[in-house]
Amino acid sequence: MSVHIREFTEDDRDAVFRLRKVAFNGGKPSGPLLRPGSHGLLAEIDGRVAGVLGIGEYAQFYGGAAVPMGGVGGVAVDAAIRGRGVAGALLDASLEAMREHGQPISVLYATVPTLYRKFGWERAGLFEWVELPMDRLLTVPNPTELIPSRPMDESDLTALHDCYLQVARTIDGMADRRPPRMDLEKVLEMDLVSVLPGPDGLRGYLTAGREPSSRDMGTLKVYDLIGVDVEAQLNLLASLKSWAGTLEAIELRITDPATLNLLAATPMRYSVWTSTWMLRVVDLPAAVAARGWTRLANTAVDLEIIDEHAPWHAGPQRIVVEDGVVRVEPGGTGAVRMHARALGPWFTGFQNTHALRRAGLLEGDPAGAAVLDQLVGSSGIPRLADFF
Ligand SMILES: CC(C)(COP(=O)(O)OP(=O)(O)OC[C@H]1O[C@@H](n2cnc3c(N)ncnc32)[C@H](O)[C@@H]1OP(=O)(O)O)[C@@H](O)C(=O)NCCC(=O)NCCS
Repeated sequence: MSVHIREFTEDDRDAVFRLRKVAFNGGKPSGPLLRPGSHGLLAEIDGRVAGVLGIGEYAQFYGGAAVPMGGVGGVAVDAAIRGRGVAGALLDASLEAMREHGQPISVLYATVPTLYRKFGWERAGLFEWVELPMDRLLTVPNPTELIPSRPMDESDLTALHDCYLQVARTIDGMADRRPPRMDLEKVLEMDLVSVLPGPDGLRGYLTAGREPSSRDMGTLKVYDLIGVDVEAQLNLLASLKSWAGTLEAIELRITDPATLNLLAATPMRYSVWTSTWMLRVVDLPAAVAARGWTRLANTAVDLEIIDEHAPWHAGPQRIVVEDGVVRVEPGGTGAVRMHARALGPWFTGFQNTHALRRAGLLEGDPAGAAVLDQLVGSSGIPRLADFF
């Protein structure tokens, strides 16, 4: 059986949508296959479409720097030909494609983690929604400064994005939400967008939608609650109290974990919906060069990268810290052995080298491993607030 992989084109639209409809029980698809900021790969066997994989152009903040990221999604193989390596061939080809597109890291939300682990992706951060009971929201302290809010209009689009970026760049993992993959104007279609004007742009904003739920009155889904300072956050939380007449609880997507953990009067036990995302380092030297790191004194760590799916960075590699710049160069003693799957959780800060060692993904020199942890200098859980 020979599998031929190529980029898909608009001519493949019907075949791709048919595969995805069967795989994901989707509805009738609409619109074009190729959207700005995305492309994809198709596997053919004897001229017939056997599998598909999409790649979106994103960037995630790490150490304050936006690292280009390939967001893999919509992986589907014809059910008549599953278990014969088609998905594997697509994943291998996607690594080369992302490297060529200058995406040194890749993220996906996996329904089948085992499949992606074999190709080097590993759990590396969280996407979460929480339920906030209204009685608890009512106990959130009132702000001391009242910031009058107003509905957004089209002229606020850039300021809204800037306000998001001000907070997002301080949380490892958050997407930079830049066009073309992210359509900023989508926010204009939301049921509620409330902005807090500040002296210099916006101090905060809230986006939400009224949606059906098992409860009579449905639910309020708060997608973003972003405030650049404590008063902005307290004003936005206080504005949610006005829903106490119709709702018993609201659902909040975690963009800024500080809002939930430091300000909201969350009960001891509360409900969280967690989706874990997996990250793969596609190209170690490029990923290291793109990320922001903790500033350390000059040092070096010798690595041995075990990665049969990305031969371009496999083997001995040395991480060099010199005058505040961190880079990877080939060579060295290979004193710390890292398996491909260790790279993602290390890069995001989701796991330290002790956990990676216990999982059998890292071996060797403890002193070198300690420097790897210091470099990432992670505080808090890596997060995304976007699903794809
Ligand atoms: C998941 C899916 C894409 C796998 O396609 P496939 O062509 O059958 O996968 P491959 O044959 O290339 O499998 C590669 C490896 O992953 C493993 N794998 C594949 N599907 C798996 C599953 N559902 N559970 C656990 N392991 C799985 C295989 O055992 C194989 O490992 P091996 O080489 O050691 O045997 C396919 O089953 C599918 O389309 N499912 C429905 C849609 C879906 O769930 N997509 C994933 C979205 S994130």
